Amino acid sequence: MSQRVVVTGGAGFIGAALVQRLLTEGHHVAVLDNFWRGSMTNLQSVSQHAHLTVVEGDVTVEDDLDRCAQALGGVDLVHHLAAINGTKWFDEAALEVIDVNINGTLAALRKAQTWGARFVLASSPEAFGQNETMPLRSEESSDFPPASLHQRFSYGASKYLGEVAVQHAVRNGLDARIVRPFNAYGATMLGDAYGQVVGMFFHAVVHQQPMRIHGDGLQTRSMTYIDDTVEGFYLAGALDEGLDGGSLAGRSFNIGSTEEVSMRFLAESVNHVVGTMAVDMVLGGGYPGDSQRRLPENSGALASLGWVPRTSLQEGLAKVWSALQTGP
Ligand SMILES: NC(=O)c1ccc[n+]([C@@H]2O[C@H](COP(=O)([O-])OP(=O)(O)OC[C@H]3O[C@@H](n4cnc5c(N)ncnc54)[C@H](O)[C@@H]3O)[C@@H](O)[C@H]2O)c1
Repeated sequence: MSQRVVVTGGAGFIGAALVQRLLTEGHHVAVLDNFWRGSMTNLQSVSQHAHLTVVEGDVTVEDDLDRCAQALGGVDLVHHLAAINGTKWFDEAALEVIDVNINGTLAALRKAQTWGARFVLASSPEAFGQNETMPLRSEESSDFPPASLHQRFSYGASKYLGEVAVQHAVRNGLDARIVRPFNAYGATMLGDAYGQVVGMFFHAVVHQQPMRIHGDGLQTRSMTYIDDTVEGFYLAGALDEGLDGGSLAGRSFNIGSTEEVSMRFLAESVNHVVGTMAVDMVLGGGYPGDSQRRLPENSGALASLGWVPRTSLQEGLAKVWSALQTGP
């Protein structure tokens, strides 16, 4: 059945891919984005779609959220992705990160309650802080260092509080679910200094500059191809109940590949995929509080959503490279 769906942050990297998926499945979608980091270019392929409305506005502003509901004539589902994301911002713009990520979540959550809509929060593995237990279960504890050390957890702690707010709303009757994407990557991700690692590595290749690998390069991540990430969000919003028959309200899902790769291996893999365009790799830089490993335990997503990561790192990187060469 067709749903009326608000996607906050719908012009961003994951949001725009989710919007395309929702439209393909026959749903009506209103995007709310202030284009702080997102762009209409990400929505280019669907910009003329009859079932898409794009509202330029701020997720922390109630009236802007209401404009989405008016455009749709009611709301069945909110996918809340609007946030300030990008590691370099966490220290540089901690107050904005806290403001948008907490107040945006509270505003979107309150609206979902008023509208009687289902709610999906885009949280993050950063919500676990510096917990180094691996693999990270969906109900892992969070562990944050003293705030005086650095500002990095402006982001992770804001995601943690977002999860607390969601759980409170669930206790008050809201059907809300939590998705934690682990390092999503794809062709449209930003590759500048405020972007993410795969985007930066390909950016280096395209500009024939060395790839800068943070720290000693032995830190690991769970790189997850965008189509798999979107599938996780889509299922978390679409299913009325879990495949195991249980309620999905208050459930959290780690949406990440279990292929744990070091940043050195990732850089080598990008070089392998780009063949003759391969560039040098240099070590250096990084951010205080960067975690050494990040690996999800995602059996809950399989049992309840039927979600599994389907794209191997080699396949995903090859798709990115192919898309970068042929354009959108
Ligand atoms: N990309 C990942 O690997 C990853 C990992 C963990 C969590 N997440 C979370 O998933 C969500 C989407 O991430 P992304 O990678 O697509 O990030 P992104 O920065 O590409 O998208 C976020 C979008 O939110 C918009 N936005 C920012 N402030 C806003 C405001 N005040 N009002 C309205 N819109 C605003 C931006 O313009 C952007 O389009 C975010 O909540 C992020 O924290 C992403």
